[in-house]
Amino acid sequence: MMKALVPFLCAVAAGVMTLASPAFAQDPAAIERGQYLYIAAGCEGCHTDTKNKGEKLAGGGPLHTPFGTYYGPNITPDKTHGIGNWTDADFLRALRDGVSPAGEHYFPVFPYTSFTKMTDRDILDIKAYIFSRPAVARADIPHDIKFPFGFRFTMVGWKLLFLDKGPLAPDPAHDAQWNRGSYLVRAATHCGECHTERNILGATRRDRELGGSPTGPEGGSVPNITPDEQTGIGKWALDEIAETLSSGLTPEGDVVSASMGEVVANTSKLTEEDRMAIAVFLKSLPPVRTPPRAAKAQ
Ligand code: HEC
Ligand code: HEC
Repeated sequence: MMKALVPFLCAVAAGVMTLASPAFAQDPAAIERGQYLYIAAGCEGCHTDTKNKGEKLAGGGPLHTPFGTYYGPNITPDKTHGIGNWTDADFLRALRDGVSPAGEHYFPVFPYTSFTKMTDRDILDIKAYIFSRPAVARADIPHDIKFPFGFRFTMVGWKLLFLDKGPLAPDPAHDAQWNRGSYLVRAATHCGECHTERNILGATRRDRELGGSPTGPEGGSVPNITPDEQTGIGKWALDEIAETLSSGLTPEGDVVSASMGEVVANTSKLTEEDRMAIAVFLKSLPPVRTPPRAAKAQ
C-alpha cells in the first residue's frame, strides 16, 4: 500500500512544485489588471522618491501632514527591505485593515481608509503587479511624527471610530456606470483623501464628502468637486470633468497643478469609460456648499 502511494505522492509533489512556481512568474492577466489599478491608485507617487530620481517603489520622499512628516516605505519585492516575504493574506490585511504582518497599525497617511473599499481580487492583482517589478535593497526612512501622534496603538481607537472596512458594496439603486465611478472615486483613486475636509483627528468628514478641504496635502486648499453650482463644479458638463481628468485642462481654461497634476498623470492613463464613470458619479453627489473662509493673513 505504502509503496504504491510513494510514486503517487511524488507526482503530487511535482504537481505542487509546478503549481507553486507561478508565484514567481505570476498570471500575466492578473499583472496587467494590477498595473491598471496601481496607476489609478497612484501607489508609485508616495512610494518613489521621484525628486531624487529614486528607484521605483523603493521608498518615497517626505509627505508633510499636520501630524508630522511621513515617508512611504520600500514596497518592492526585496525580501529584506521591501515586502518580498509577504503572503497574499499579509498584503490584503495591510490594504484592507491597515495592519502590518507584525500586527502594527499603519497611519492613515497611507490611504488604506480608501483602499479598504477595493475588492480582494483587485488588491491581489496590484500585489501581482508589484511582485513582477524589480526588488530594490533600500532601507526605509523613519517617519518624523509630532508628539503624541507617533503611537501606533492610538490607531486602534482611531480605526474603531473612522475605518469603514470594505469592500464597497455595489449600490443596486444605481447602474453599472455609476457604481464603477463610485468604486474608482471612493476606493482606488481615493479622491476624498484630498478633496474631503478632515476633522481634528485627521479623519475625512463623511457629511462633507468631496466638498473641498482647507488643508490639502501641501497645506493649500483643495477645491469642492461636488455639484454645488457656486462653490463646486455644478456648472461643469460631464465631458468637461472627464477632460480635466485626461488633460488637466478645466472649463475655466486653467491647468490643474500641484498634487492634482500628479493625479492627472495617472487618471490620463485610465480608459475614457472610466473617466466618464468618475464624472457621472461626481455629478450625482449631494452638493456641498463650501463656507466662505476667513481670508488668509498675508
Ligand atoms: C498618499 C501616499 C500613499 C499612497 C497613494 C500609497 N501609499 Fe502605501 N504607504 C504610505 C505610507 C506613508 C506608508 C507607511 C505607513 C505607516 O508607517 O504607518 C505606506 C505603507 C504601505 C505598505 C506597508 C509597507 C510595510 O513595509 O509595512 C504597503 C504594502 C503599501 N503602503 C502599499 C501601497 C499600495 C499597494 C498603494 C497603491 C494601491 C499605496 N501603498 C499607495 C503612503 C502611500
Ligand atoms: C493628492 C491630492 C488629490 C487627489 C488624490 C485628488 N485631487 Fe483633485 N485636486 C487637488 C488639488 C490640490 C486641486 C487644485 C489644483 C489647482 O488649483 O491647480 C485639485 C483640483 C481638482 C479639480 C479641479 C476643480 C476646480 O474647481 O478647478 C477636479 C475636477 C478634481 N481635482 C478632481 C479630482 C478627482 C475626480 C480625483 C480622484 C480621481 C481627484 N481630484 C484626486 C488634489 C487632489
